Amino acid sequence: MQQLKLVFPTLEMEKQAIDYRQEHFDSGEHEIHGDGGLDHAANYSEWIGKIKTDLTRDEGTFVPATTYFAVVDDRIVGTIQIRHKLNDFLLGYGGHIGYGVRPSERRKGYATKMLTVALEKCRELGINRALVTCDNDNIGSLRTIIKNGGILENELPQEDGSVTQRYWIAISSVKTLTSKTITLRAVRESVIPI
Ligand SMILES: CC(C)(COP(=O)(O)OP(=O)(O)OC[C@H]1O[C@@H](n2cnc3c(N)ncnc32)[C@H](O)[C@@H]1OP(=O)(O)O)[C@@H](O)C(=O)NCCC(=O)NCCS
Repeated sequence: MQQLKLVFPTLEMEKQAIDYRQEHFDSGEHEIHGDGGLDHAANYSEWIGKIKTDLTRDEGTFVPATTYFAVVDDRIVGTIQIRHKLNDFLLGYGGHIGYGVRPSERRKGYATKMLTVALEKCRELGINRALVTCDNDNIGSLRTIIKNGGILENELPQEDGSVTQRYWIAISSVKTLTSKTITLRAVRESVIPI
């Protein structure tokens, strides 16, 4: 049965990671969401060092954050980053969690499952309510959030003319998962509120 895992990136995953990044570039996407800066990293090993530093970096505009690859059948299908707490920027715009799915793997339910697993990670970090945001015209992302129990608080206009929707997800609504690897069927049938 197909499984989706969130995996902390390792040096051994370089080839897959570069392929993941290149697919975005080939599709004309030069900003990859939830990737901890992989999209503009000079080299992979430096990026691994950077995301390790991110785990505890807590200064200026930075809060501690964990970046994961979402992996299905040894293929990286997405990236997702959990910020361990909010600052003013994250409260108004970025939220606790950012994510993206590679172009060839979209519309298969992966973002929905990635967010479900990330919410369980949030629980482990002691986050009781997760703020997840998206542009009001990003239908795929807002559907992903709503399917994971997101409740819209408000919409905030940004300086660039975009409008950010801010959703809160009560972590207590996410069923506790005993395994680090969960089946996609289990996610769909028992975790995601319909
Ligand atoms: C937004 C994104 C993460 C969605 O990933 P995904 O794996 O395709 O999402 P899912 O397959 O889990 O779909 C979630 C829901 O959104 C819907 N959806 C996804 N993409 C959609 C699109 N382009 N248009 C309309 N609906 C869409 C799906 O149908 C599903 O809803 P349903 O179950 O009610 O039918 C992906 O398109 C992406 O990486 N985009 C670029 C980066 C980005 O926008 N990240 C989020 C920033 S807030």
